[in-house]
Amino acid sequence: MLEVTVKATTANLGPGFDCLGLALNIENKVKFIKSDKDFTDKNNIIYQSAKKIFDLSGKTMPPIEIEQEINIPICRGLGSSAACIAAGCIAGNIMSGANMSLDELIEIGTEIEGHPDNIVPAFLGGFTVSSMDEGKVVYFRQDAYEGFKYAVMYPDYTLPTSQARGVLPKEIAFSDGVFNVGKASLFTAAMISGDGELLKYACKDKLHQPYRKSLVPGFDDIIDKAQSLGALASFLSGAGPTIIAILSKDDNDFETAMKEHLKKIKGKWTLKVVGPSNEGARV
Ligand code: HSE
Repeated sequence: MLEVTVKATTANLGPGFDCLGLALNIENKVKFIKSDKDFTDKNNIIYQSAKKIFDLSGKTMPPIEIEQEINIPICRGLGSSAACIAAGCIAGNIMSGANMSLDELIEIGTEIEGHPDNIVPAFLGGFTVSSMDEGKVVYFRQDAYEGFKYAVMYPDYTLPTSQARGVLPKEIAFSDGVFNVGKASLFTAAMISGDGELLKYACKDKLHQPYRKSLVPGFDDIIDKAQSLGALASFLSGAGPTIIAILSKDDNDFETAMKEHLKKIKGKWTLKVVGPSNEGARV
């Protein structure tokens, strides 16, 4: 039996579309158990990811049972699919004896997921910046600043990434591109330095949130309330519908007041305050 622990991740962090990522301290445990009978659901993304490693190393995947303890909300913009892919790739690497490096697994995981922003922190933990370069994943990783904590707010409905990408424009104005380059750069600097004041200016986006917010009723209301309650930044997590507010570690008032406010928003919202995770996927 092999058990892989994987973390939730948030991507984009506002302006860093398909590029910025952060691991959060919410985890799934995935058990891989050798079995006599064939695993039934071959469409399972964990199974598919493990099998991909076997296939690439020229080995045959034996029958396997997969058991999960799931804490990462599914299809909510918290990296549940990246967590499954990372777990599958890591288990596949060990079970097949393929002995691939972490960077090779990140490449394969990104190919399965389609973009690197959740995959890189799912494997490595911490705060990450990743970008595709001629088909390769290039990334920067640093331990997340411990002075911030994260109010993770999610509704009872799911939002498939394909649907949330489907509302994005094919082209954007040059001025919007310039705006986001500036904000994403400031955001990166703020996350690395722990400069909460800078975060307040950095967390603005013209690439995806203005188009996606119609898919998340109450989006503006929650963002405005978070700001009035003293959040340093707030944004749609990944493709949504989760909204995350960044708080100072010593903020003790936000959680209760925001929970009360969320009762008024359609969608039975849940709020959990969690720390970042500097630990990536581990066996
Ligand atoms: N960067 C991706 C998006 C994250 O916003 O569509 C979702 O997987």
